[in-house]
Amino acid sequence: MNKLIKSYIVVLFLMVLTGCNKANNAKSKEIVTPFNAQVDSLMALMTLQEKIGQTVMYSGGWSITGPTVSSNNKKFIKEGNVGAMLNVYSVKGTRDLQKMAVEETRLGIPLLFGYDVIHGFKTIFPINLGLAASWDLEDIEKGSRIAAEEASAEGIHWTFAPMVDIARDPRWGRISEGAGEDVYLGSEIAKAYVKGFQGNDLSKYNTILACAKHFVGYGAAQAGRDYHTVNMGDDELQNVYLPPFKASVNAGVETFMTAFNEVNGVPATGNKFIFRDILRDQWGFNGFVVTDYTAINELVMHGFAKDRKHATELAIKAGIDQDMMSSANRQYLEELVNEGKVDVKLINDACRRILLAKYKLGLFDDPYRYCDEQREKAIVYKPEFLEAARHSAAMCSVLLKNDDESLPLNTNQSIALIGPLVKDKENIIGNWAAAGDRKGKAISIYEGIQEYLSNSKISFAKGCEIEGKNDNDFKDAINVARSADKVVMVLGEDYDMSGEAASRTNIKLPGRQTDLIKAIRKAVPNKKIILVLMNGRPLDLSEEDTLADAILETWFPGTSGGYGVADVLFGKYNPSGKLPVTFPRTLGQIPIYYNMKNTGRPIPPNNPKEDYKSNYIDVPNTPLYPFGHGLSYTTFKYSDFKLSSDIINISDTLSVSSTITNTGDYDGHEIVQLYVHDKVGSITRPVKELKGFQKIFLKKGESKEVQFQLTSKDLEFYNNKAFVIESGDFEVAITGTSNFDFQHAFKLE
Ligand code: BGC
Repeated sequence: MNKLIKSYIVVLFLMVLTGCNKANNAKSKEIVTPFNAQVDSLMALMTLQEKIGQTVMYSGGWSITGPTVSSNNKKFIKEGNVGAMLNVYSVKGTRDLQKMAVEETRLGIPLLFGYDVIHGFKTIFPINLGLAASWDLEDIEKGSRIAAEEASAEGIHWTFAPMVDIARDPRWGRISEGAGEDVYLGSEIAKAYVKGFQGNDLSKYNTILACAKHFVGYGAAQAGRDYHTVNMGDDELQNVYLPPFKASVNAGVETFMTAFNEVNGVPATGNKFIFRDILRDQWGFNGFVVTDYTAINELVMHGFAKDRKHATELAIKAGIDQDMMSSANRQYLEELVNEGKVDVKLINDACRRILLAKYKLGLFDDPYRYCDEQREKAIVYKPEFLEAARHSAAMCSVLLKNDDESLPLNTNQSIALIGPLVKDKENIIGNWAAAGDRKGKAISIYEGIQEYLSNSKISFAKGCEIEGKNDNDFKDAINVARSADKVVMVLGEDYDMSGEAASRTNIKLPGRQTDLIKAIRKAVPNKKIILVLMNGRPLDLSEEDTLADAILETWFPGTSGGYGVADVLFGKYNPSGKLPVTFPRTLGQIPIYYNMKNTGRPIPPNNPKEDYKSNYIDVPNTPLYPFGHGLSYTTFKYSDFKLSSDIINISDTLSVSSTITNTGDYDGHEIVQLYVHDKVGSITRPVKELKGFQKIFLKKGESKEVQFQLTSKDLEFYNNKAFVIESGDFEVAITGTSNFDFQHAFKLE
């Protein structure tokens, strides 16, 4: 019989057997049981090799004409030895491979297509650290919904996002991919991403699987060097690094990815404690776990496995279901079972979880449901998506300083635009920009400003490159600065100075950029200089802070970035972003974050220079710009702080409120933050912890009472193998920045 016809019959047979029909596409939560039965029936037909095949993922590549897949990988797909592919997208690319899997293999099991859809797919939103600066959960959910719409229209079923690693070291390039330093903010944002990508019904053609990564501790790499060792005690692991992952599980995330690093001596990809004990047994996660890229093989380099075969055994035993790119499962799992080293049950479990995900997506109903040319054409770069990205870019911008109301700009004045990133369309979409276009689709800051100012009022000089030693163009830049009313400088990093394998030991502006701003300041001492920054990490801006009158942090603002940033510069959008991460004064302060511990020798507030205290002799302990900081063109007054009670017991809810008044001249948003300090604990507690926030809008002169509800659950922490809630004294505050002193207290009895 012709092979194609044969496989078609097998597929038909399977469809009858497994009851695959549209009626089964109920909500993902309700369908676990019926799909279990279908998976059972399918697995009863599968050989051990085919089951192992589901645990294997390979990567395609991309050329000008579309996705490329090696002939070896095609062969493996046709043999039924591949469960998923990454880095292949587009309707044509995914359809061709899916056809191979469905029509040319014995059982016709569809492939999963995964991709790094990190901050947008084609329409690129600000980088994730920037998105976190919006503190706008609705916007983040909406952005990831849009990313899922676009990615699913190009054949993608699964994103390797969100990255929910807490990161407190700006040297680490991947700080750009996460939500920053804070546990509470990071956890809330993790949920928003998961909801956005997965929607509330995975069986819809426009929802995709999300993946919480990298489990766990990746952001704590020693010295900020990517992939480096991670050592941390239970307190830090449980109270800081695990919560955003737990929040992702609570939000229903379907998959997890391992981290490259070791955790306390055991590489994550072979770490039973984190995957079996915590993720599966304690948290009840029943989705599947994929390794990071070639991470099984790396167990050998870590010095944890003696060879790749041993590594394969350790990974499956640790609870890892799918092997991204190591080829280890394909090569060794069957042998390991035959030798009695790996229980076949582990492979059955892994295969079952992966098949369940495919059922939930509806791929057994219609393996081509994500391959629709019409949708692909209609969806990608939809005007409303570009508009949403513009809005995000504005909301993510953080006004770090604004002396003498140098911003907003006035449309009557002439502007000198100076700097290597003014006309840039390549870097502006940032790192991990999925299928984003670096060749011209993005709107530069220059183009954004052209929406507000006629060309006669704009002059431009590049001044210097992002990197390099050359200052030949400083002269031009100085001339341009002299001829305009105000100077706007657009400086920053190259997009690939952050992201994976992009750690820096120097977090200043690269190249001659600081010298450029110094030269301009010297040439036009009395002119306003507005510094617009694009970068993927907190930078050391100590010098720039003394040179510029205003600083606007725009991160890498994405495809519509130029428009969004111009909206802020000209006051169409009053900036509301707040830092999700601390900006140090100098590299030597790292790690520096707002919710540190007090130490036994904190600096006395009235005598910061006192000897033998926990301080530096050369710089203050305080950062340049703290977590939660961000200015507005208006001002907000916080008054009428109220607590519903001074004493609560374990079952009470404490209501904490404050009245916020817009006391300035512009309407605007404020991000109102709730902080708590647990004064005495069985293990020491941070000096302050964010426990809530609300983004509110106030017209000028308007007041609003903002209320938070605190329960004892909000005060729990992990100590000695369990989460505990301890009675005692707490301080509490409602503020607009993490830089404040507590004035109010309550007692938990
Ligand atoms: C990264 C992951 C990413 C994977 C697939 C790895 O190098 O660490 O975050 O999802 O590649 O592209």
